Amino acid sequence: MITVSAPGKLMIAGEHAAVYGYPAIVTAVSERMRVSAAFSEDGIDAVDAPQAANTSFVEAALKRTKAHLKLNKRGIRLRTASQFSQTIGFGSSSAVAVATVGAVHLLAGRTPVPETVFTLAYRAVLDVQKTGSGFDVAAATYGGTLLYEGKGKRIEPLPADAIPLVVGYSGVKADTVALVREVARKREAHPDTVERIFRAIGDIVGKMQSSIREGDWERVGVLMNFNQEYLRDLGVSTETLEAMIAGAKNAGAYGAKLSGAGGGDCMMALVPSDKRDAVCDAITKAGGRVLDVAVHSEGMRSESVSQEPE
Ligand code: MEV
Repeated sequence: MITVSAPGKLMIAGEHAAVYGYPAIVTAVSERMRVSAAFSEDGIDAVDAPQAANTSFVEAALKRTKAHLKLNKRGIRLRTASQFSQTIGFGSSSAVAVATVGAVHLLAGRTPVPETVFTLAYRAVLDVQKTGSGFDVAAATYGGTLLYEGKGKRIEPLPADAIPLVVGYSGVKADTVALVREVARKREAHPDTVERIFRAIGDIVGKMQSSIREGDWERVGVLMNFNQEYLRDLGVSTETLEAMIAGAKNAGAYGAKLSGAGGGDCMMALVPSDKRDAVCDAITKAGGRVLDVAVHSEGMRSESVSQEPE
């Protein structure tokens, strides 16, 4: 058995605009999806995903990788294990697709080259979901914190290992595909206005990546606040997210914004160390749950090579 894991992600800036090729900043989180792979005796593919609502991302990634490696005559057994709740919006679908591509490569005795893993897993995600910028696939593949642009044309690591983030969950599972469609409808109805918002978000991301390189967290926080204003204009924030964000800012955060598609899921606050406890309390009082999650985590990695299935 070969086991490969890949991390989930949090979007630091640039969501929604990223779907149209604008730049975004994403960080990999400490919670991971694991995929174990073995050849099957009977030549038939089988996916065992006890915690997953559906297995379509694993199946799509398996199909893409088998075709790429010319393994179509071999049967492969896959088993997934999740370290995180899929309701939180950490990107379990992309993480499981990346881990599948990686595990099948290793099983076939091939090195999972990150660029190839990214391409195959992104295609698999698009096979299932039809839409998506691919930033979460990049985070799962490369790990760390990334500047991501042009649906994968530019992927650059950023030195954000010390980024002082607090992450809060709103208690509501967001439907990313529906929210992306909703923003697409707005863009069709008001093309100039929405494109102007995307350009402004792209500009914020550009400034934020330089501030991250300088370790200027206060400025990164201010830029997060600007980004949140534009996300609110796009109509993807919610009352609970707004209350959590306002609470965090009033308690001393440099800045705060929703993370991901909006409509629920998570928010994040950038926080000076002496304000961390106060910000956590404020998020909880506003109806959120503070998540114990580290960021800037390692990308796809091999976990083990053993004789027995786990
Ligand atoms: C969702 O986490 C972020 C979006 O920008 C979608 C995407 O980039 O694929 C809304």
